[in-house]
Amino acid sequence: MIRIKVPATSANLGVGFDCMGLAVSLYSTIDFEQSSQKLIINGCDEQFQNEQNLIYQAFVRGCQFLNQPIPNVKITIDNHVPVSRGLGSSAVCIVGGLMGANLWFDSPLNKEEILTLATEMEGHPDNVAPAILGNLNVSFTDSLENIQNVAFKVSSDLFFVALIPNYQLSTKKARQVLPKSMDYQTVSYQVGHAVALSKALETGDLQLIRQAIIDKMHEPFRSKLIPDYSAVKSICEKDGGVLYISGSGSTLMAIASNLNDAQKIIDETKKSFPNWETHLLSVDTKGASGVL
Ligand code: HSE
Repeated sequence: MIRIKVPATSANLGVGFDCMGLAVSLYSTIDFEQSSQKLIINGCDEQFQNEQNLIYQAFVRGCQFLNQPIPNVKITIDNHVPVSRGLGSSAVCIVGGLMGANLWFDSPLNKEEILTLATEMEGHPDNVAPAILGNLNVSFTDSLENIQNVAFKVSSDLFFVALIPNYQLSTKKARQVLPKSMDYQTVSYQVGHAVALSKALETGDLQLIRQAIIDKMHEPFRSKLIPDYSAVKSICEKDGGVLYISGSGSTLMAIASNLNDAQKIIDETKKSFPNWETHLLSVDTKGASGVL
């Protein structure tokens, strides 16, 4: 049996739209075994137990890329990354499926090659890169075939709190509300803030994070799709934290500089939104892994 473990990821981090992403300590595991039938999938809703399943599609893509026959496979999913909440659930499926196929055929592909295939499937690198490589990743590229990455170690003085609404938000819908172009002034604002944010996350300077993370490219448009955005932002800021929309939402990610503030943000959010899932997370530094 092959077991692949993939971390959840939080993309964008405010000003890093489509190019920054962070791997966090929330994991799903996916098992692949030889099967007597063409395909068996366990551990997900019945509607996903078929050949359209994204893990299977990525597994098939991996086999085809390696010029190998597609084996009969049983896939068992133990999923802890909520779906359509901006925590990289589709990256988990894509990376899991590709790494499963790679390990099935004795690992001919390295992580960079898996990243290229994964980005091709996902359409943007900011979830799949940290899911594969761990840490904070900044991807810069002029084509999906040539992904360049810089990894930053995030300061261990920072605490990340995922505040996960009990409603989904599809990435497609969250991309449709974005303007089609930006002016020079806004581009220059974003570049300066994104560089400052990378440094601030590395050094753990929450004051600098607070200033640098303020985005003008997607959050002002997407916050309108998350009805509780303003309420949660107020809670977070009152308790000393900084808030951004994780990926395309609906999850709101708080950053705090101590455990006490992080816990207060969780407690206050739970008080107002008892049905929300909350997780105190650290940075995953390893990325996806596989064992036979
Ligand atoms: N960068 C992507 C977006 C992430 O914001 O649309 C989607 O998870």
